[in-house]
Amino acid sequence: MCTKEEIITLIELAKRLEKTDPTDAARQYFLAAEALVRGAREHPEEERTYLELAQKSFLKGKELRDKRVQMKKLVKGKSEIMFEDIGGLEDLKSEIRMKIIEPFKRPDLFNFYGKKAGGGILMYGPPGCGKSLMAKATANEAGANFIQVKSSDLKSKFVGETEKNIAELFEKAREKQPTIIFFDEFESLGSDRTDAPAHDKSAVAQLLTEMDGMEAKEQQILLLAATNEPWSVDVALRREGRFGVTLFIPPPDLEARREILQIHLANRPIEHLDYDVLVRLTEGFSGADLKAMCEMATDIPLKESFETGERRKISMEDLREGIKKTKSVLRQWFAKASEQVKRRKLQEDFSELIKMSETEKEMAVIN
Ligand SMILES: Nc1ncnc2c1ncn2[C@@H]1O[C@H](COP(=O)(O)OP(=O)(O)OP(=O)(O)O)[C@@H](O)[C@H]1O
Ligand SMILES: [Mg+2]
Repeated sequence: MCTKEEIITLIELAKRLEKTDPTDAARQYFLAAEALVRGAREHPEEERTYLELAQKSFLKGKELRDKRVQMKKLVKGKSEIMFEDIGGLEDLKSEIRMKIIEPFKRPDLFNFYGKKAGGGILMYGPPGCGKSLMAKATANEAGANFIQVKSSDLKSKFVGETEKNIAELFEKAREKQPTIIFFDEFESLGSDRTDAPAHDKSAVAQLLTEMDGMEAKEQQILLLAATNEPWSVDVALRREGRFGVTLFIPPPDLEARREILQIHLANRPIEHLDYDVLVRLTEGFSGADLKAMCEMATDIPLKESFETGERRKISMEDLREGIKKTKSVLRQWFAKASEQVKRRKLQEDFSELIKMSETEKEMAVIN
């Protein structure tokens, strides 16, 4: 429940943010609208006033969001992916901004308050929901060099080679600071030492050595890692000061799906689309599924135009067809993930995953 004062604060905050961070401002307006609708229910005597304000707040949020999408269409063409090219995940973007980007950009300020940047961040979550995208955008937002390594590429079957590869990687990062090293598919490098072959253990050990060394040297190197099998990541790597911060990257919710669809349909000829319907029909889709779906839908009028010579726009019907043909693997992933996490008794470490699996299960029963 929100009190009147809290609602006013939300709206004031939204107003202040309009110029500096329109995305966040839009979100605050939406939050205020939701609170006002609840308020209308709680105060029937003032229902009308509450609802009118809710509508105003909602429209304001929508206006800001639409403006942003328009802007994006105009500046399209730049190859660097930024936060605004990623739909949804707003809380995460703020968290990354505070924990990674700002300390990286302004180490003096953070030092002044005795806060230390450093350590690594492990992103985990279902496939195709923006982990790799987020890592790349983080480096761009921070203005840092970006080295992406597929963790399996670092591993060699030759004795001693893996350690050498890892040492060289850090050497390269040190030469050109600030740098973000991104370990993609991290499970294959940091796999649980107890059931890993001997040479895998050395990869983990070498990585730990490098990380512990970093702290002492005050380097501007930041480590990001991503995995869709977090239960396979060596526990030692997840300790404080190493990949101590874990961030869950969830599947896109309604609002995020709308944004992702708009991002992937921007710059394409589209008829008027009913996004409310589209986001409902794509419940359970990942960002990658949504992208694939848009491609499929686009191919329909494109192919037709070869036969007819006419160029018709992408329609709701095309998108419905694309949705029908897209099979998402998210539900299967959640079932497997929660089973693995529970089997290893890691529920506390990955609580968000477990919570979301429960919701997924309930949804499966309803559908
Ligand atoms: N939030 C999003 N906004 C826009 N596009 C998205 C989003 N999430 C996913 N996509 C689309 O899906 C593609 C795959 O996303 P990404 O590579 O970031 O997934 P991932 O979480 O790293 O998956 P995996 O676990 O399989 O590596 C992206 O290149 C992008 O086109
Ligand atoms: Mg990825």
